[in-house]
Order: sequence, then structure tokens, then C-alpha cells
Amino acid sequence: MGKASSKKWWKESVVYQIYPRSFKDSNGDGVGDLRGIISKLDYLKSLNIDVLWLNPIYRSPNDDNGYDISDYRAIMEEFGNMADFDALLKGVHERGIKLIMDLVVNHSSDEHEWFKRSRSSRDDAFRDYYHWWPAEKGTPPKRWSYFDLEDNAWQYDETTDAYYLHYFSVKQPDLKWENPELRRAVYDMMHFWFQKGIDGFRMDVIPFISKDTAYPELPESYKGDFIAYYANGPRLHEFLQEMNREVLSKYDIMTVGEAPGVTLEQALNFVDEDRKELDMFFHFDLLALDREPGEVFKMRKDQWKLTEFKQIHSRWDAVFKDKGWGSIFLCNHDFPRSVSRWGNDSPRYWHNSATMLQTFSLSMRGTPFFYQGEEIGMTNIRFDAIEDYRDINTLNAYHKAAHRCDDLKAFLENEKDASRDNARTPMQWDTSENAGFTNGTPWIKVNTNFKEGINVAEQDKDQNSVLNYFRKMTQVRKTHEGLIYGSYELVEEGHEEIYAYTRIWGEERYVVLLSFSENQVTFPLHTLSHKKGTLLISNDEAPQNLPDDKITLHPYQAAIYRFTPK
Ligand code: GLC
Ligand code: CA
Repeated sequence: MGKASSKKWWKESVVYQIYPRSFKDSNGDGVGDLRGIISKLDYLKSLNIDVLWLNPIYRSPNDDNGYDISDYRAIMEEFGNMADFDALLKGVHERGIKLIMDLVVNHSSDEHEWFKRSRSSRDDAFRDYYHWWPAEKGTPPKRWSYFDLEDNAWQYDETTDAYYLHYFSVKQPDLKWENPELRRAVYDMMHFWFQKGIDGFRMDVIPFISKDTAYPELPESYKGDFIAYYANGPRLHEFLQEMNREVLSKYDIMTVGEAPGVTLEQALNFVDEDRKELDMFFHFDLLALDREPGEVFKMRKDQWKLTEFKQIHSRWDAVFKDKGWGSIFLCNHDFPRSVSRWGNDSPRYWHNSATMLQTFSLSMRGTPFFYQGEEIGMTNIRFDAIEDYRDINTLNAYHKAAHRCDDLKAFLENEKDASRDNARTPMQWDTSENAGFTNGTPWIKVNTNFKEGINVAEQDKDQNSVLNYFRKMTQVRKTHEGLIYGSYELVEEGHEEIYAYTRIWGEERYVVLLSFSENQVTFPLHTLSHKKGTLLISNDEAPQNLPDDKITLHPYQAAIYRFTPK
């Protein structure tokens, strides 16, 4: 048996991601905060989740909602202070839950002390903490930037007559990992948080940290595809191994890297246990499925196919068959809501598609990650007006489109499906004003469908709600080891409406049936080698015993059958 089957707490965990700005506001300023999270810990416990991941809560001028950090050891004022953090961590641990933080070390804020020093003089001790190109060498070779109005990752800075590199916004200068002092400073900071007792890190755009510091012209083959070029720099694995040796290996923690640009072929370089780097990472293949090739934020014109969705998951499962371990997620703070994207959020299909997708994530091999609101089936807000958006990504893209005289109506239509703000609208707690998120004015509009049943309070009382299904399904995963460690095999892989697979672990055997269709679909079962399955869970009416020949599934139905050993 391969190492993929070796047991680890983080393989058996269900992770719940909190975007603190939009989770719960405790003091009426319209911004979620740490005290707000503390007030919801019993709720979080009721979800049977094991690990919380917090998006960045460090001090930040919020150019990119906390992904621009000005002090890695302080809490963002809007979110509270270190005493609040300590109380949160304690409250989380008291409930048997673990806490992981976001580690954002490809870049800092331009308001970080390191950068203030670095930009102050070419001779400053911190100069080499960032990437600089002296202007006397001419214009630096092209580098693209995600959040720059001119798509230019080099920003000219007068003080020292040089350009600095920023793959993200102009206020997010890239840190220079090639400098051992910078690495030491990052490791010290990581120790600081581990010594406080946190249980791991999610590592922001981690494959970008290593760069070719000769900054050559982009090779011809990468034109347009800058993500692939930015990922996997020449010293990346050396840095990750060093980080593991110096920091990670000293604690019983988990790590998950955000890994844009990392391919199936490169996967094990990150998570093969023998290499001692990371535990897991998030690949971007699924996130690209409904986008134009090479365009992270542009919707593709035709409809994605279920067979493509299956292929992506099956290939990634296969990579970790014997070594390493995968992650399963359908949305996060950078992408639209899962039920709107992979299911169907129209009232008729919303309940089944939200719960079907939960069943999927919780019955796959790989650690499942849920994003706040997924447990109640929150949907895309689909803003009509640019004024409603808050995200730097949408706002900059709009300005660029306006500047180029693009069709702005088409731009806004695209954002309705693609914008990151779809995921960032406030958590919907109850039917009171602003869905119980805040007594003040929310920093971003609340989706009005909190009045139509998409809220925690009402769903809590309804046995058949999306929320209560989520609680049942997390329990099912936890009490059936085969759903965690079992092998995964597709059934009828070419089927365009039903995603079906088996999970096998010793004597434990399951078949998972997931409908991605608005129709009643009859699905053949005669190829299944196991017979006499009994129903473990379903989000709709389902036969108690799995028929031998075929089964008819309701629209977006999910059902798991368990085979009892002979
Ligand atoms: C990651 C984060 C995203 C952020 C970017 C820059 O992709 O998930 O929210 O904007 O990195 O830090
Ligand atoms: Ca607040």
C-alpha cells in the first residue's frame, strides 16, 4: 500500500474557510472582525468541521483586502487586536478545532517597514528584500502584473531611480526570496505564529516566490501565459525544503499551498512526503474549466462539460494514488459561488445542486475545503453596477476596459459570473436587516436572497435544509474511513449527466451517484461489480437498496450506497 494511505489528521479533516471581512461584524462598523468570529464558534462546531482557515488578518492598508501586509505580527485594526486573536485561538482549540492562517510571502505591502527601508536608498540594509532594477540599465524586460492598470509589474520609483517588481498591485511589491536574510525573517515570523499555537498555513501564490533574478526577456513560449512562467522558479523547491527544515518540521501542523501554474507532472515535487516540502496544494485546473484559455477572469463562451469536470478530478486523484495527497474545493474568496457555478442556483434546483456538490466534496479522496456560506448554499450576487464592486481586480479591469473603449456592458455581464466579489458578500445569518451580518452599513452589499431562505437561522430549524444536509454529510465522511482513504474509480466515465464513482477501502465499499442534470436521468448500474448496496445518504428520495440494473435520479440528486461485506 502506498504512502497516500498513511493516516494523518489533516487528511481526515474537513476545512472551513473564513473570509473575516464578510463573516460577522461585532461592532457595527460594517466590517467583519475577530470578535464576530468568536461569537460564531459554536455554530462552526455544529458543522462538524475540523480546521478553520482564516484569510489574512494581519495589519494591512487593504489595497487587496489584507493580501497586502504591512506588519506580519500585528492584527488589522479593523479586525481587532492580538488579545482578540488569542481569545479566538483559545476558543477554537477548546472546541477541538484547529486554526490555520494565510501566509502571504510572495509580496508584502509597500507600507511594510521592510519596503519603506528598501525604497529609501540603494545602500539600505533592506534594499535587497525586494526586486529592484536600476534605471540606468534601461527599461526592465516585460513582466505582467495581475492588478496593475498598465499590466506592468515594474514600477518606477524616483527616490532611488529604480524599478521594483510587483506581480500583483503596485502596493504589493514582491519579496526577494533569493536573499537569505529575507528568508530568515520570514521563518522567524512563521515561528512566531506557530509558537502562539496555530496549526498550519495556507500559502498564498507560493510557486511564485522563486524568480530568475537576471530578469531575462520572457521566453517566446510563455508570451501571454505569464502564470506558467511565474510559477516554479529555479530555486522554488530549495526554498520550500529549507522552510520545511527550518520551520514546518518542528511542529505538528498542516500546510496547503495555493499553486497557480502547477501541473499534474509537477505535483509530486511539492507533496511527495519524502521530499519534505508541503502537505497539499490547490491546483487551478478546475478553476480554469469555465474560463477562456489562459484567462483567469474571463468566462468561456461555450458551456463546460461534465466529462471535463470528471477528467480533471480523476487525473488529480490518480497523481496522488500512491504518494502525496490532494485537496478538493469548489470555491473560495477568489472565485464565484459553487452552487451558481457548478450547480444551478435557480429556486427549483438550488437545494439539490448545493447538497449534491457538498456530497461530491465530502466523498472524494483528498481533504475537502469549504468556503463560508457554502454550507447554506449561498449564491452569486451578480451586481449590475460597477459602483457595487469593491474588488481591486474588477475595478482595475473596468478602468482598463473603459480606457480601451471596450464594450463595458459586456464587461459587466462577464463580472456577474466571474467577479471575486460574488464570494465576498456577507455571510447570511438570519432574516434581520443585513442578514444579521452587521448593525451598520456593510462594506459590500448583502445578497437579498437571505430573505428567501438562504440564511443560517431558518435553515437551522429545517431538517431538510442545505445546512442540515451539510451537517449530516460531514458526519458521514467522518464515520466512514473508506470515504477518506479508499481508492476512487469512475463508473460510466463518458456520461454527460451523472458523475458516478466507487470508493473502496478493504472491506468497505461505496458507490457515489451525482446528477449534474436538470432532468430525471436513468443511469445504468450493470457494470458495477458490487451488488446489494444500501442507502447511506441522499438529498432526495432514493430507493433503500441499490437496484442491480439501473437507477433513476432526480435533478441534481446525490446518493451514496454502501456495500456490506459478504
Ligand atoms: C492569491 C489570493 C488573492 C490575492 C492574491 C495576491 O491569489 O488568494 O486573493 O489577491 O493571491 O495576494
Ligand atoms: Ca467590525
